Amino acid sequence: AKKAVLGPLVGAVDQGTSSTRFLVFNSKTAELLSHHQVEIKQEFPREGWVEQDPKEILQSVYECVEKTCEKLGQLNIDISNIKAIGVSNQRETTVVWDKLTGEPLYNAVVWLDLRTQSTVEALSKRIPGNNNFVKSKTGLPISTYFSAVKLRWILDNVRQVQKAVEENRALFGTIDSWLIWSLTGGVNGGVHCTDVTNASRTMLFNIHSLEWDKELCEFFGIPMEILPNVRSSSEIYGLMKAGALEGVPISGCLGDQSAALVGQMCFLDGQAKNTYGTGCFLLCNTGRKCVFSEHGLLTTVAYKLGRDKPVFYALEGSVAIAGAVIRWLRDNLGIIKTSDEIEKLAKEAGTSYGCYFVPAFSGLYAPYWEPSARGIICGLTQFTNKCHIAFAALEAVCFQTREILDAMNRDCGIPLSHLQVDGGMTSNKILMQLQADILYIPVVKPSMPETTALGAAMAAGAAEGVGVWSLAPEDLSAVTMERFEPQINAEESEIRYSTWKKAVKKSMGWVT
Ligand code: G3P
Repeated sequence: AKKAVLGPLVGAVDQGTSSTRFLVFNSKTAELLSHHQVEIKQEFPREGWVEQDPKEILQSVYECVEKTCEKLGQLNIDISNIKAIGVSNQRETTVVWDKLTGEPLYNAVVWLDLRTQSTVEALSKRIPGNNNFVKSKTGLPISTYFSAVKLRWILDNVRQVQKAVEENRALFGTIDSWLIWSLTGGVNGGVHCTDVTNASRTMLFNIHSLEWDKELCEFFGIPMEILPNVRSSSEIYGLMKAGALEGVPISGCLGDQSAALVGQMCFLDGQAKNTYGTGCFLLCNTGRKCVFSEHGLLTTVAYKLGRDKPVFYALEGSVAIAGAVIRWLRDNLGIIKTSDEIEKLAKEAGTSYGCYFVPAFSGLYAPYWEPSARGIICGLTQFTNKCHIAFAALEAVCFQTREILDAMNRDCGIPLSHLQVDGGMTSNKILMQLQADILYIPVVKPSMPETTALGAAMAAGAAEGVGVWSLAPEDLSAVTMERFEPQINAEESEIRYSTWKKAVKKSMGWVT
């Protein structure tokens, strides 16, 4: 059969906490042509620890690329039209590997991992000068969430890593660095780099000067020679060295939440998006200014789309557990067999009947930053069944979003008039309606929910030397939106929300 004629195409790796995807878009219409997805294992070797196998992650990327290319072939689409590849990734997750063998020296310590709680406490006690030392440079509170403390733990506890550092063989990176180094050749000339958005999540990066910060590295005891080079989010880093797309430039790199902000076209000051993945992350573009929150939000680099382009910042509300609560109901309680079944159960219940579920599995992130919190399910009666618990789990995702939206509105002064959403969970209509009811503003979802991958593809396609994607498209008519309007009254919504807050209080102080 004749091959379909298309404009230039761009691929995107979306390496999330729960799964890896590769997606291919038409750069002229932003249409998604094909994709493949593979679930990623998580290991919980001890209570509070969360690890992943860096090699499994890398293999999953290769598998997704190959399978997507096969699917394109079946659609008669010539893969030589793929002109660039973007990478978006779960942020903060920390990998250390050997640059001579290409082997990881320890499992990836995932952003959700809590093992560094005592490291965090010890470090917090010896912050030099004022308490703002880390926050004023990085925009982040000292927390188990960010890479610096994970790397500190690895350096303190893994003999092979200590040895590799002494022998100048160790490289550190977040998942983007590990992937780009491996995909561009690994031991045979792999490029050791990261982008400003991923760097801004390590707690070692100065978000004003856009460089690794010597004082921070000293404070955390991190040898600077193991850190990757920091580049913009849109430039050619290197070429794919193997597989069906060998020779294609990798020219976009963004932490997944930044990628979603770009994919949702939130380029203006005050534009925001909320992505429902393993966790849930609300980012609001604050333009060229670093805005510091008074209400528990993070200041982070939003993007820098080209070497000579300006940097943009965002305020971020991070929720650790969103989709992860559904996976927990599936894998730990077994009350559903597939994640989609949650919608059916919640629909059957129609309400939680006074049951509240605070999924503080990794403590509470924004706006509380409370590591002592643990998950609770409360308000149970003999009437409560699994459908009510399923409903309460979905409601928890919405209440947590409400908490960060409230903080965002207070910090920004101008309340958001609607919420732009994306991510896997947004296909759940019950969740979307509940979200509109609990926020009491409309929730707006693009017809193509893969905005994280789209953002990475846009950055890759727009890079200097690639130039197949315009970041200011004239025709956005292909982007259709679905809207969910609030259906319950504000008073009812407030009553539910205040009971949720009561439950949150009860979840705190479990670990001392
Ligand atoms: O900061 C963690 C975040 O990047 C993880 O994203 O999509 O895996 O929930 P996700």
